[in-house]
Amino acid sequence: MKVIVTGGAGFIGSHTVVELINNGYTPIIVDDFRNSKPFIINQIFKITGQKPKHYAIDCCNYKDFETVFKIEKPEGIIHFAAYKAVGESVNKPLKYYENNINSLVNVLKLMNEFDVNNLVFSSSCTVYGSAKVIPVTEKTPTQKAESPYGNTKQIGEDILHDYFKTSKNKNISILRYFNPIGAHPSGLIGELPIGTPNNLIPFITQTADGIRKSLTIFGNDYPTRDGSCIRDYIHVVDLAIAHIKAFEKQKNQTSELETYNVGTGKGTSVIEVVECFEKETKIKLNYSFGEKREGDVAEIYADNSKIISELEWEPKYSLQDALKDAWNWQKNLKNVK
Ligand SMILES: NC(=O)c1ccc[n+]([C@@H]2O[C@H](COP(=O)([O-])OP(=O)(O)OC[C@H]3O[C@@H](n4cnc5c(N)ncnc54)[C@H](O)[C@@H]3O)[C@@H](O)[C@H]2O)c1
Repeated sequence: MKVIVTGGAGFIGSHTVVELINNGYTPIIVDDFRNSKPFIINQIFKITGQKPKHYAIDCCNYKDFETVFKIEKPEGIIHFAAYKAVGESVNKPLKYYENNINSLVNVLKLMNEFDVNNLVFSSSCTVYGSAKVIPVTEKTPTQKAESPYGNTKQIGEDILHDYFKTSKNKNISILRYFNPIGAHPSGLIGELPIGTPNNLIPFITQTADGIRKSLTIFGNDYPTRDGSCIRDYIHVVDLAIAHIKAFEKQKNQTSELETYNVGTGKGTSVIEVVECFEKETKIKLNYSFGEKREGDVAEIYADNSKIISELEWEPKYSLQDALKDAWNWQKNLKNVK
């Protein structure tokens, strides 16, 4: 099965391309490297022995994107390409609406034009906001988004539901990712630190590596067991495999739209992550507590029973594995850049 992977050079995209190749799919990467680097394609080759075809085009440019569909005639699409920095989206909302919404609309128009029936869409647990009952299931009501970024994921999901009602033979899997972390166990691909990291783990690994003087933990008086936020950290390879499982289910369907939480089902506090990293690497981290960040919910983790039973997926990697792999990647970055 030939699959277009928008954003396939990015953090989650590159790991998914590896798993697609490992599972006999032919991924075609569409990524203009606005938040990734061309050397990632070579790294994928080093892991898999196959160099995926790649188009450096903007998914918001319909004509360019259409050309890829014309040439490649794909059977499926995974749509990762989007901006993802919550804080930046508050200051630059139009940048987020323009890219995240237009690219999705183009994907759907092209699916119609070229009769492509299978789509996996990257959504996020941000759609749940501050949920009253935890763990959240796919039926937990979504809350008004706290940021333009979160809103693009909610609008994206709404667009998919509206599109599905008017389209024939489309299979759509909406995957709501919890907190993807870690890196490929080979140490050859991982999260690229472009600018100041927005996520905890690159901040931790850069602090451990001496790139940053210290780590700030935002808030120490949340109503949680140790006062820091609780999240559901999922190894990026486990997350990548969920996309393959979604396609496997779609192959047996003619028309369905399903939403799945992709998380471990376990909540871990920020302080527990720091302590786990220190234990795993024997490196003492220099950290302090800062103000709470606007829009951060105290606690969220997934009820993952739906994806486990319907897609026969389950997380294989532990938090320790993820932190070890992220640290390994951080150390290797000097060699691969
Ligand atoms: N990383 C997370 O914590 C997280 C959590 C939940 C959801 N998501 C979603 O998962 C998806 C992938 O996230 P990621 O962490 O891999 O991000 P990433 O920034 O590493 O990857 C996104 C890739 O898309 C490319 N891209 C963006 N806009 C493009 C466009 N218009 N045309 C062509 N290429 C474009 C970028 O160059 C980048 O390589 C995003 O939709 C993100 O919102 C991520």
